[in-house]
Amino acid sequence: MSVPFFTPETLPPPSPGKKRYGVLGFPVSHSLSPVLQEAGFGALGIIAEYFRVEIPRENLAASIPQLRRNGFLGWNCTLPHKEAMAGLCDILDASARECGSVNTVRVSPQGLEGFSTDADGWEDAVAEAWKPDLSALRILVLGCGGVGRTLAFRLARRGCLRLALANRTEAKARQLAGEIGKFREKPPSVIPWDPDALTRAAKESDLLIHATPLGLSPGDPLPFPEGGLHPGLWVYDTVYHPKGTALLQQARSRGLPALDGLGMLLHQGARALTLWTGLAAPVGAMRSALEQAAGRPV
Ligand SMILES: NC(=O)c1ccc[n+]([C@@H]2O[C@H](COP(=O)([O-])OP(=O)(O)OC[C@H]3O[C@@H](n4cnc5c(N)ncnc54)[C@H](OP(=O)(O)O)[C@@H]3O)[C@@H](O)[C@H]2O)c1
Repeated sequence: MSVPFFTPETLPPPSPGKKRYGVLGFPVSHSLSPVLQEAGFGALGIIAEYFRVEIPRENLAASIPQLRRNGFLGWNCTLPHKEAMAGLCDILDASARECGSVNTVRVSPQGLEGFSTDADGWEDAVAEAWKPDLSALRILVLGCGGVGRTLAFRLARRGCLRLALANRTEAKARQLAGEIGKFREKPPSVIPWDPDALTRAAKESDLLIHATPLGLSPGDPLPFPEGGLHPGLWVYDTVYHPKGTALLQQARSRGLPALDGLGMLLHQGARALTLWTGLAAPVGAMRSALEQAAGRPV
């Protein structure tokens, strides 16, 4: 893509014969979704274009009619729009209702249909790499924003042996634990955001899921105390960075099984493509394109 992103005002007019999709976010120029989706459409033989569209949080609702007039048949949403988009859809599927967030929209005669493929994408990625029995795992989720919330709801619904939540703003973790507690016999525990408490909680966990943005920018501190990375802990970092996040590097240097968010990105995107096209996603072609863009295996 030569232009890093458009705005609803600068988008080119619809191209006859080309299906139009995109990713909405702010910022959005870093998104790898175009690489993924263009490879997917190409492998399916569908003539389509996929744009990065930068939309500030406060402009989202007003932008939707513009996108529809501009011929969009669907879009992905990234930060900061996933929760707000759930409120703008006419129909939500079970996955979006589960977490109150939408990362995929399909424009249909019924209106805007909202889906969340993040949790399924995460499950696909860990199943592919580790084939874990989630029901037997004690899981600590670090970060209770959009992604942490989505994964915590899914884990609670799937059933894991124990679920613990930690968030810098503890009130948010408490609120989430309360919401989840309504449909889980044993409510998640809330861990204070301090190194000693996190280290202790990790010692009683099998899987650590990191879901804050720490690790995206060079010089970010580790999101987790090094001492908590005990032998036997698996680490899933939802963040991805070309060189591997600091958390991933630390975990791997200790010989721990560790994955970053590229696999989740691949599989949530593959599921979005299937929702738009009704076809099985060409995961191999999408993976190759992502690997080429990221410069490493997914
Ligand atoms: N792999 C994928 O496909 C994929 C998909 C989506 C997102 N992600 C990754 O997940 C990250 C989080 O996304 P999101 O949608 O959950 O974001 P979000 O809704 O903005 O939530 C961010 C969370 O991180 C915490 N946080 C932010 N800055 C922090 C800091 N300096 N120290 C400690 N905690 C901090 C926030 O805590 P407070 O409540 O205290 O503010 C909040 O819980 C993204 O940056 C992205 O890298 C990956």
